[in-house]
Amino acid sequence: MGFISHRNLFHFFLVLCTFFLDLGSALDSIKLSQFIQDTETVSSKDGLFKLGFFSPKNSTNRYVGIWYINQDNVIWVANRELPLKDSSGIVTISEDSSLVVLNGSKHVVWSSNVSTTASNSTAQLLDTGNLILQDSNTGEIVWESFQFPSDTFMPNMSLSTNKIIGKKVELKSWKTPSDPSIGSFSASVEPLSAPEVFIWNQTRPYWRSGPWNGRVFLGLPEMYSTSLYVCRIGSEEDGTVHLTVDFPKDSELGLFVLTTQGQIVESNWHNKMQVRKYNNQQGECYVYGFCGTFGVCDSQSSPICSCLRGFEPRNVDEWKRNNWTSGCRRKAPLQCERAKTGVEAGKEDGFLSLPMMKVPDFSQQSSVSEDTCRSQCLQNCSCIAYAYDAGIGCMSWTRNLFDIVKFSKGGVNLYLRVANSELDKKRDKAVIIIVAVNVGTIIVAACAYFLWSWTKRHSGETHSEIQSLIGNAEEVKLNEVPLIDYEEIAIATNNFHSDNMLGKGGFGLVFKGVLEDGEEIAVKRLSNASGQGSEDEANTRRVAGTYGYMSPEYAMKGQYSEKSDVYSFGVLLLEIVSGRKNTSFYDNESSLSLIGFAWKLWNEDDIKPFIDPMLLDTGFENQILRTLLTMFLLLIYKADSKEGAMFMNSKDMEKVSTDKKRDKAAIITVAVIAGTIIDAAYAYFLWAWT
Ligand SMILES: *[C@@H]1O[C@H](CO)[C@@H](O)[C@H](O)[C@H]1NC(C)=O
Ligand SMILES: *[C@@H]1O[C@H](CO)[C@@H](O)[C@H](O)[C@H]1NC(C)=O
Ligand SMILES: *[C@@H]1O[C@H](CO)[C@@H](O)[C@H](O)[C@H]1NC(C)=O
Ligand SMILES: *[C@@H]1O[C@H](CO)[C@@H](O)[C@H](O)[C@H]1NC(C)=O
Ligand SMILES: *[C@@H]1O[C@H](CO)[C@@H](O)[C@H](O)[C@H]1NC(C)=O
Ligand SMILES: *[C@@H]1O[C@H](CO)[C@@H](O)[C@H](O)[C@H]1NC(C)=O
Ligand SMILES: *[C@@H]1O[C@H](CO)[C@@H](O)[C@H](O)[C@H]1NC(C)=O
Ligand SMILES: *[C@@H]1O[C@H](CO)[C@@H](O)[C@H](O)[C@H]1NC(C)=O
Repeated sequence: MGFISHRNLFHFFLVLCTFFLDLGSALDSIKLSQFIQDTETVSSKDGLFKLGFFSPKNSTNRYVGIWYINQDNVIWVANRELPLKDSSGIVTISEDSSLVVLNGSKHVVWSSNVSTTASNSTAQLLDTGNLILQDSNTGEIVWESFQFPSDTFMPNMSLSTNKIIGKKVELKSWKTPSDPSIGSFSASVEPLSAPEVFIWNQTRPYWRSGPWNGRVFLGLPEMYSTSLYVCRIGSEEDGTVHLTVDFPKDSELGLFVLTTQGQIVESNWHNKMQVRKYNNQQGECYVYGFCGTFGVCDSQSSPICSCLRGFEPRNVDEWKRNNWTSGCRRKAPLQCERAKTGVEAGKEDGFLSLPMMKVPDFSQQSSVSEDTCRSQCLQNCSCIAYAYDAGIGCMSWTRNLFDIVKFSKGGVNLYLRVANSELDKKRDKAVIIIVAVNVGTIIVAACAYFLWSWTKRHSGETHSEIQSLIGNAEEVKLNEVPLIDYEEIAIATNNFHSDNMLGKGGFGLVFKGVLEDGEEIAVKRLSNASGQGSEDEANTRRVAGTYGYMSPEYAMKGQYSEKSDVYSFGVLLLEIVSGRKNTSFYDNESSLSLIGFAWKLWNEDDIKPFIDPMLLDTGFENQILRTLLTMFLLLIYKADSKEGAMFMNSKDMEKVSTDKKRDKAAIITVAVIAGTIIDAAYAYFLWAWT
């Protein structure tokens, strides 16, 4: 190295400098022949980033690094591998224009190793946290710290990989929190046909993000939330694929740190206060291939690993001891394999739909349609699973399925090829979900509340009253009633993307969506400025909806308003309390619909038979009763004495009166378990109804 051979001269020069060119701590740059010593720093213009000497916690070693606000937030370290043992070090620009760290006897412990013809360079710390070395004559940036990251990934930095020339810009974890030397873990972007981020433990994959679909990584469900960071992946003509990140404007700085344990921690600063987010939701499922081949990891279930349907543990004893490494194997051969080997003919294989999955590693991709994707997979016996994402296209797998995780939200549908015997009859129907945005989010909240309190999963979060209700209501069959929170609907409709719009009218927009379990839905998003649609629009619109949820005037005449949505929502609430499905009701109770039945009992002052017995057992009869009454009072209005007419079944549909008087519905009082949520919903009903 050039500058070492000139060491004596250099040394002399530095001694000279010591007298004249010591920088103090105010500047944002180090010019040729200037230097800083321990205790001094170089600041970015805005004063938030500093370059200087620091010791990690529990260590006396001195390192040169860059930190944000204070030394707890070191974002970059120069001499990671060669610490200074005392405070005699300096940072300066060497004669050959490299940025160097020298120890007390002027030995180079770190160098930026620039090999250019630049003769006069300046090191400058930018407001982005990037330390650049610039040729003062040409202005060319000859070196920058963002090209050589430590363990921190932040805006204006890019992680990149070029397979052709074998160049990687990657994160490298510290060894321990008190030792910044290079640890076991690294994080890089892998230029697969759909790029992925991998965290490696030495050379072995430790975590993968799932494929990039142009907007999110399929294995990072939290990315769907809009308030979070935004990633971008781009590629250059020379084959470099690079990843950058942006944080919402309201945070002063956001960054990711690759920890010594191979986790990614996100930090955000608001008003100089740091908020750290550990992404531990996935627990052990975070670890690449934790459940072995054909094993599925679900952090919500116990045991955490299970075999895919149609598969069994390869080694049952190990599996019982929670040693998942050897994974699972297929129980019965696929029909296509039997056919190939000339064994008996049987029913054709089918696909099992596995919702909310992190897709396995090693997919093959093509840009065919979803239908083609399915049929191509079915026709080729070596295709054992497929998945479809609008951004990526068709993904299929021919090898062992590895690193499958079941999420509690997000993810995609994985279609697994199984022998016909493993298939069950899957329902395949469309439901209409009514979503009213703005004021209407209240309704969604009410739905979500019921879902929340009636399912066991989140029992830890509920207060005692609800908790005992849950305990008893565990078996309540809610499976056919769609209860979906707003976020899920946003995901399903790609955030109400215009591509998903089915139609538009005077009362709001209708979007097509696909729920996480693959079910297709139509979502009505009410416009806040309600008004009445013109008669023309109402008459020409085709009536489409799920029978039983449509309001009479809509079903009969296609006259549609927000009140129709209120009607549909009321039906849903009645279903919840009765534990019965409106559409399945006709068979059981003479000729009355669910609403008619409720109405009849209500008039007979004997509503109890309407309530799901499971709920009555809980000892909260009064609350439930009150809730119930509230609910269907919202629905039921007195129509000119012909009460039978308004709760139609298919037979007396024609007789339905659409008398205007119905609109002046008598809505009585509210008293509820759900407290403010239902109160708010009630307020909405009043608003929409009258
Ligand atoms: C420093 O040492 C103390 C005591 O040994 C320990 O509790 C603490 O976790 C250490 N801190 C770090 C960052 O290693
Ligand atoms: C500087 O580094 C050299 C080589 O490692 C070493 O011999 C010398 O003792 C160091 N000087 C100081 C003051 O640490
Ligand atoms: C600079 O080059 C030397 C010798 O080739 C090497 O040991 C050192 O790791 C390099 N430094 C950096 C920061 O790459
Ligand atoms: C280096 O460049 C700076 C800024 O352009 C200039 O002020 C300085 O005189 C130059 N020094 C040498 C030795 O050329
Ligand atoms: C840094 O990134 C922000 C967006 O995240 C961009 O607006 C800005 O121009 C970038 N600054 C530099 C110096 O690249
Ligand atoms: C990383 O790999 C090493 C050696 O392969 C292993 O000993 C260590 O347990 C691994 N770390 C984790 C967190 O899995
Ligand atoms: C788990 O099983 C594998 C063999 O499949 C074995 O090599 C490994 O040691 C076992 N691990 C533990 C913790 O028992
Ligand atoms: C089936 O898929 C495999 C792997 O993708 C491929 O090599 C093979 O050509 C395909 N066979 C047919 C008949 O398409």
